[in-house]
This record gives sequence, C-alpha cells and structure tokens, in this order.
Amino acid sequence: MDQLFPTFRADLDPVEAVASDVRTALPIRPWIMVNMVASIDGAIEVDGRSGGLGSPADKAMFHALRQLPDVILAGAGTVRAENYGPVQLDDAAQSRRVARGQQPLPRLAVVSGRAHLDPNAKLFSDPSQRPIVITTSTAATDAVDALRTVADIIVAGNERVDLHDAFAKLRALNMHTVLCEGGPTLNDQLLVDDLVDEWCQTIAPILTGGDASRGAHGPTSGVARNLSLARVIVEDNVVLLRYARES
Ligand SMILES: NC(=O)c1ccc[n+]([C@@H]2O[C@H](COP(=O)([O-])OP(=O)(O)OC[C@H]3O[C@@H](n4cnc5c(N)ncnc54)[C@H](OP(=O)(O)O)[C@@H]3O)[C@@H](O)[C@H]2O)c1
Repeated sequence: MDQLFPTFRADLDPVEAVASDVRTALPIRPWIMVNMVASIDGAIEVDGRSGGLGSPADKAMFHALRQLPDVILAGAGTVRAENYGPVQLDDAAQSRRVARGQQPLPRLAVVSGRAHLDPNAKLFSDPSQRPIVITTSTAATDAVDALRTVADIIVAGNERVDLHDAFAKLRALNMHTVLCEGGPTLNDQLLVDDLVDEWCQTIAPILTGGDASRGAHGPTSGVARNLSLARVIVEDNVVLLRYARES
C-alpha cells in the first residue's frame, strides 16, 4: 500500500470520501463497518454517553457514514443510553442513495437478546420507519409481541443473538452494507465472530481517565483480526481513522 499521509479536512468532503470507498458484501452476509469515537486514553463515554467526546469533525463523519449503509445497527444498551430516534438524512443524501439503488433511508436494527426495549421509545416514533429488532428465541413472548406492533422482528439464536445468523437474514433481505454504531458489548461479539470488515475510529483530543469502557468490551481476549489503515483525516486536533479488511 502507498504510504498514507494525514489529510486535512479542508481538502476533503467526508461524504465524498466515504462514498468512494469500496465495500464488497460477501454472498452470505453484508459488509460490516463499525464507527466509534474515543478519548485519547480510550474512553468511549463520558458520564454514560458519547456526546462528551463529540466535535464538528466527528459529527460530520458520523453523518457521512450514516448515508452509506442499508442498515444502521446498534446494541440495545446504546439505543437506551443515547435515546436513539428515527434516522434523518437530508434530501440530497436520500437522492444519492436512490441513485445508488438503495432505499432513501437506512433501516435501524437493534440487537436485544431480551427484547428489552420500550415500544413507546423515540426509536419507534415514526411508523414509516419501522426499526428491526434482532432478538432470541428465549426472549419473553410478551416483550416480543409488544415490539412486533412497532418493529419487524428477526429471531436469531437462543440464549444470545447469533450474529452470523442475524447477518445472513439481513443479507437475504437484500441488505448489503451494515454500519454498526456500537456499543462495546455488541462490538465485542462482532470481533469474537470475526465480523468486522471496517472500523472507523475517531480520536477526540481529550483525556478522561476513570473506568469508562473501550470500543469493544467482553469476556474474551486476544487478537481478533488485523486491519489495514486506509485513511487518516485530521481536523482541529481530531483524528479520523479508517481501518479496513484487505480485499
Ligand atoms: N463512543 C462511542 O462511539 C459509543 C458508541 C456506542 C455506544 N457508546 C456508549 O456505550 C455505552 C453502552 O455500552 P453497552 O456495551 O451496554 O452497549 P451495547 O453493546 O449497545 O448494548 C449491550 C446490549 O445489547 C444487547 N446485545 C449485544 N450483543 C448481543 C448478543 N450477541 N446477544 C444478545 N444481546 C446482545 C444486549 O441487550 P439486552 O440487555 O436488551 O438483551 C446487551 O445488554 C453507553 O454509555 C454509550 O454511550 C459509545
């Protein structure tokens, strides 16, 4: 690979940059990218939410990435902590998606083994954008039935969500690209199952200390996968990295 030099954002439109990347879905599952922000010392939340790590550059990349996928995926912990709502993209972004053969808006999918989501939550507030809830066969029937009124349900796995099965089911629904927005518990499952094709990492220019989680957090340890550095953008002391699987 050619040597990479940091690109200063003044020279780069993040929407164009991420849209020109090559992402090839496998026949059995979508291409899976993860986007996370962390402090210099690796914390992914401040007082329980990621907002304290935000910056204009991070927000621009967050929104640019959201224009790409067929599905935006998040763990139930993230959806609850960040009070997720329906996806919003401006008209130009929706037109670009349609020109690429995609739906105007990505579907939101939430992984919750217990189906532990409030059907009255903001996430479910727009009937024209029914989220997908990915859950298990052992989730409480009452909880699943309540969610069925506001969401489409995918059952994958018994005690835990079987992510390979979940992604195979999304692929069968013609979903080619998934953007996972965390959090660390879900990310760790992706790593354990070797399901990360691309990891976009923003480094916020702050030190936090404390006991905050990091980007992937779970009981297993060891190197899950090597990725290649594909892009470095620097703006206002914020570093935006793209690592991707060699194709
Ligand atoms: N800095 C960042 O970029 C960033 C991004 C995202 C989140 N965050 C932060 O991360 C924190 C939340 O962390 P978290 O680890 O709790 O979040 P998480 O990974 O979003 O959610 C964990 C929950 O997701 C469900 N889940 C994940 N994988 C599963 C599997 N294989 N099978 C069944 N269920 C599965 C479970 O839900 P049920 O309990 O409902 O079964 C589990 O309790 C928040 O503070 C948030 O602000 C930061």
